[in-house]
Amino acid sequence: MRILLTGGAGYIGSHTLVELLANKYKVCVVDNLSNSNIEFISRVQNITKKEFKFNLVDICDHNALSKVFESFRPEIVIHFAGSKSVKESFDNPLKYYKNNVFGSINLLNVMDKYSCSKIIFSSSATVYGNPEYLPIDENHKVSPSNPYGHSKLMVEKIIKDWSTTYNNKSCILRYFNPIGAHESGLIGEHSHDHPNNLLPIIENVFIGKENNLKIYGNNYKTPDGSGIRDYIHVVDLAKSHVAGIKFFDGTKSSDVFNIGTGKGNSVFEIVSIYEKVAKKNIPYVVEGRRKGDISESVADPSKARTKLSWKAELTIEDAIKHSVNWKLKNPNGYNN
Ligand code: NAD
Ligand code: WQD
Repeated sequence: MRILLTGGAGYIGSHTLVELLANKYKVCVVDNLSNSNIEFISRVQNITKKEFKFNLVDICDHNALSKVFESFRPEIVIHFAGSKSVKESFDNPLKYYKNNVFGSINLLNVMDKYSCSKIIFSSSATVYGNPEYLPIDENHKVSPSNPYGHSKLMVEKIIKDWSTTYNNKSCILRYFNPIGAHESGLIGEHSHDHPNNLLPIIENVFIGKENNLKIYGNNYKTPDGSGIRDYIHVVDLAKSHVAGIKFFDGTKSSDVFNIGTGKGNSVFEIVSIYEKVAKKNIPYVVEGRRKGDISESVADPSKARTKLSWKAELTIEDAIKHSVNWKLKNPNGYNN
């Protein structure tokens, strides 16, 4: 089976690539390296000892993308490519609508041209907005509160209409909070810009790149007052895409799944686990709440367990252990 990964050089894409190669799929990666580094190729080859194709192509470029389809003829596309910063999406919303929405429409057009009828799409728990109940199941209303979330929801809707109209197949995965790295320490989260997510910032404090962590709020209605999230090991998340491929063998053509663990941890808990695993103090200061943040977000992952036969296996300690290992070996990401 031939699988095309858009954004396959990125954080989640590269971990998924490792799982696909381990499962003997033929893989072609398309990435413009806007938030990744060509170094990922040798790292993935080092882990898997397998070959795959790579094309430096932007998904918004119809002709270049068509050429890749012409030669590789993918049967399934896993679509990671996109921009993902909530903060940046407030400052530059059009970038998000162009790269995420227009890029996805362009991809679907090229898929149609080459009769590729199956897509797995990287969506996000951010589409739910402020939860009305917990844990969040897939029937929870969707109400994103930032341009990034709007762009993800728009693409979900476009993909649903595309699958219904043309009798195509789609698997929409709503990831909760991916963290961690491959246990080898060869691949992990790499960002060209200053990170905004909790774990990459704690990592920077750990290696002394930043003086302290700013904890955004200690007065939420949670047991210790800090925000709670469903942190999932990126390797577990990567494996959900293999489950997504197998889902296409079934009778139901299109569906949406939460990809999380079903367990939440607060910011203070994450800091305390990190300190224990890294054997180092992580200095922090408590600040006011961050714009757009919610108190708690935890997945109900039971639909993925029942219909994809997938569940998260690794622990939060595993994820943090692997995150520490990645950062120690690659203090500047791939730019060592
Ligand atoms: P990432 O930035 O590490 O990976 C995205 C990859 O896409 C990068 O390699 C980047 O160079 C590439 N890319 C971006 N625009 C492109 C374009 N126009 N053409 C070709 N390549 C392009 O991000 P990630 O964390 O691996 O996220 C992957 C997907 O998962 C994204 O769609 C993101 O929105 C979604 N997601 C991520 C998270 C998270 O917290 N990391 C959570 C939920 C959903
Ligand atoms: C987690 C917790 C913060 C940084 C975002 C996107 C979501 C998804 C994952 C892409 C919160 C607290 C954080 C810091 C802190 N990405 N925090 N100090 O906001 O849940 O989700 O990333 O789809 O769409 O919205 O993740 O890691 O930024 O924050 O106290 O310096 O850590 O307030 O409680 P978030 P996060």
